[in-house]
Amino acid sequence: MPSKATTELVQAGTKDQLRFITCGSVDDGKSTLIGRLLHDSKMIYEDQLTALARDSAKHGTTGNDIDFALVVDGLEAEREQGITIDVAYRFFTTLRRSFMVADTPGHEQYTRNMATGASNAQLAIILIDARKGVLVQTKRHSFICSLLGIRHVVLAVNKIDLVNCKKDVFDRIVGDYVAFAAGLGFTSIVPIPISARYGDNVINRSGNTQWYQGPCLLDYLESIDIQSDTASQTFRFPVQWVNRPNLDFRGYAGSVASGSISAGDEIVVAASGRTTRVKRIVTQNGDLTRAEAGDAVTIVVEDEIDISRGDLLARPTERPEVADQFAAHLIWMDKEPLVAGRKYILRIGTQTFAAGTITAIKYRIDVNTREHLAARTLSLNEIGFCNVATALPAAFDPYEVNRKTGSFIVVDRYTNRTVGAGMIAFPLRRATNIAWQPLSVGKRERAALKDQKPCIIWFTGLSGAGKSTIANVVDQKLFAMSRHTMLLDGDNVRHGLNRDLGFTEADRVENIRRVGEVAKLMADSGLIVICSFISPYRAERDMVRSLVAKEEFIEVFVDTPIEECARRDPKGLYSKAKSGKLKNFTGIDAPYEMPISPEIHLRTMGQTPEQLAEAVLDVLMARAIVGDR
Ligand code: ADX
Repeated sequence: MPSKATTELVQAGTKDQLRFITCGSVDDGKSTLIGRLLHDSKMIYEDQLTALARDSAKHGTTGNDIDFALVVDGLEAEREQGITIDVAYRFFTTLRRSFMVADTPGHEQYTRNMATGASNAQLAIILIDARKGVLVQTKRHSFICSLLGIRHVVLAVNKIDLVNCKKDVFDRIVGDYVAFAAGLGFTSIVPIPISARYGDNVINRSGNTQWYQGPCLLDYLESIDIQSDTASQTFRFPVQWVNRPNLDFRGYAGSVASGSISAGDEIVVAASGRTTRVKRIVTQNGDLTRAEAGDAVTIVVEDEIDISRGDLLARPTERPEVADQFAAHLIWMDKEPLVAGRKYILRIGTQTFAAGTITAIKYRIDVNTREHLAARTLSLNEIGFCNVATALPAAFDPYEVNRKTGSFIVVDRYTNRTVGAGMIAFPLRRATNIAWQPLSVGKRERAALKDQKPCIIWFTGLSGAGKSTIANVVDQKLFAMSRHTMLLDGDNVRHGLNRDLGFTEADRVENIRRVGEVAKLMADSGLIVICSFISPYRAERDMVRSLVAKEEFIEVFVDTPIEECARRDPKGLYSKAKSGKLKNFTGIDAPYEMPISPEIHLRTMGQTPEQLAEAVLDVLMARAIVGDR
């Protein structure tokens, strides 16, 4: 991803820039081809530019290149964490045009790298070994390019010298490819017979392929007309930050993602629907009357309306979608698989959603055959079609319409790693159609009637740690004090509400999600809700915590060493798990993530349930949830 500065440098010498990706493997002659293009063309600046691009990517000076630039940055971060990511951007310039080539490894385990490279490219060179024809990898590369929005393909049939430059071999490969590519949405497919090794039809037309009438590769790359895909689009301006140096000035800074806008034009804040007019378009070099795609500007508006970082500005007649649920293609980029139902950070343009969820994986796509397969998760390099939900409405466009406002990344809330990249297909529901029904009798009234403070007391710990036993004693004591309580226990809930769930990671996440929602409803009705679940994942415990007010969630870590749990083994499950008869057993072959700072930490060794329950009661008293005993 070049920085703005890089782009300008390149453009200073030439008319425009073509960004393309080369797809194929070393065996297909990819490196030879790139080497030949770089070497034979009169390339300039290459080293300086690469260094510049690297530096600016590192320090994030672009400030404006949102959307997939973030993916690149995210991957860069991963590279720093020692995970190999390999997307090399090379720059070269001829007298007619400048070029940026994304060079990524072609194997299936590098799907995420290829997707990253393709996300920014306008054209793909798909390399085929003339001796081998259309291969599975050719199909995979083409599919990924299509999914990432590339509409122009050069089919470079390489090593044509090794098939004696035969026209019929070339024609057959082209026929095969064109038939396969129907439905991938390419607007142009230009086949060229080449020999990267000897240079045939790369820079100069070859005498060995007299039958070929088309352009040579570089000629074609220099002349293909790819009108700036963003300039002609509808106006989109994601607000990067609010520029407020003093009380007299308030402007919204960012870069125009697509289309153009002029002073005096009417604009709308997508999510709120508030409209106003553009008063000024401010830049470092003075005001503009008009700004277009790529321009970094500060927009000042006529009226004092609420606009903040992350808002998307558009024209009222061309509004983006606004919804809190959408369907999207998702490329999984992390070693840890996707967990549907778990909360992730979602970044859509400049909007950040702290609690986004992949609510359902509709299907996984076999990248080689494009087949739709049933899936409960996505692993590294897998691509799926998913439903996604954000806690608040998001403003976006379908990726097909706008690559900048239609893409998003998924970030792990704990590791901060970019774990996925998505392309939005369509909104699932207009957020405005579903509102909260205002209720007259609320939580406060219901709690007041019961004369208590509602809360959720959440017991977590290993199986056999003593959660249910202690929870039960706490419940008895509260009941004896005339408190209104309800106890939800893992084993019991799994007989009814959650009887469709097992013990895979995804099922446990869903188990806790449902229980959390139920506990919240019960707390809303004014009850003290006691929950006893292994709840092995920090993410889900935190999710339940986030459902209620800060003081209403009390996490109780029932801390019993696993050796002791296994010795007690009240249900005989540890011995079954150890002998391999029971799979996914917490602490044996499934993880337990200990609470980091629970409200109550019960070290159970040498203590009776009665004593431990008293310790819980003490805290409830200290927090004025119950009065004196
Ligand atoms: S949780 O992990 O999803 O929170 P939950 O608390 O509902 O688990 O259920 C745990 C109970 O299910 C255990 O106390 C045990 O009786 C039973 N159980 C059956 N199989 C397993 C398993 N593989 N891992 C843990 N508990 C299991």
